[in-house]
Amino acid sequence: MKPRVIVTRRWPAKVERILVERFDAVLNEDDVPLTAAELATAFQTYDAILPTVSDRLPASVFPSDRCRTRLLANFGVGFSHIDVAAARERGIAVTNTPGVLTDCTADIAMSLLLSVARRAGEGERQLRAGGWKGWCPTHLIGTKVSGKKLGIIGMGRIGKAMARRAHFGFGMDVVFYNRSKVDDDETRSMSARQLPSIEALLGESDFVSLHCPGGAENKHLIDEARLSIMKPSAFLINTARGDVVDETALVRALDKGMIAGAGLDIYAEEPAVPRGLVERENVVLLPHLGSATAETREAMGMKALDNLIAFFDGKPAPDRVV
Ligand code: DGY
Repeated sequence: MKPRVIVTRRWPAKVERILVERFDAVLNEDDVPLTAAELATAFQTYDAILPTVSDRLPASVFPSDRCRTRLLANFGVGFSHIDVAAARERGIAVTNTPGVLTDCTADIAMSLLLSVARRAGEGERQLRAGGWKGWCPTHLIGTKVSGKKLGIIGMGRIGKAMARRAHFGFGMDVVFYNRSKVDDDETRSMSARQLPSIEALLGESDFVSLHCPGGAENKHLIDEARLSIMKPSAFLINTARGDVVDETALVRALDKGMIAGAGLDIYAEEPAVPRGLVERENVVLLPHLGSATAETREAMGMKALDNLIAFFDGKPAPDRVV
């Protein structure tokens, strides 16, 4: 008998085709997120659930007794929306899709950095609204990126990909903070310096880009106290997880001119975005586009599929996190 699996959102067509061939798969034709009650029921009905970042899976959604699900094969690299302790307690495996979205996520981080520094969002809005009066020497003056200092928090795959873009593409000086020591040929080739604390990095960077995991330990890693250390001319870029930044403190810091602007792709309560951010000109806001390319989304689906197939073939799932 084929394992019964449920896919919580639409996936790339090619991947969905393979899923229905290989598994007794229920697809989400309407692409409407499942409710907490539907997710709770899924644990009793399916051998595997294939969630995404838009599915909240706190401990309260996991079953207290009867549980059929043995695997959560997440479509995405971040898994802070899944209570992994609750999964572990019930012997449910969790897999993710690392590696394949590294470049595209770093591309979006770099686009945010460039857009906010060069006021591209403001310019586009002004032009579309018919407000552009023509070229003049003082129109929409931004901040030069080349040669500036970029501080990266979290020097994993995506952090390093961002560093490569910034250093080799824009001649930026890269400093970084990472919990463990990172000293490899790649960071040396960029003369990237590891700093001993987040505070040291915030104090000297012209741009700060977040690439650390989400979850309880990094919740509000960037809070009011830390924002106050940043230079008033500095910009904050977040493509990691929304709650890594205290959004209320960020709005306050922007209001007070404690930092120059922000470029954000993710939010604490997606799809809600705080009004205080939406209303600001010096904030570039994207709707969680980090991995949103046809190539990457298909590769993510294929990776989730590899995990699913290996798991139900009784082999080690390549990207098991629990
Ligand atoms: C991830 O993979 O964690 C992204 O946020 C969704 O692509």
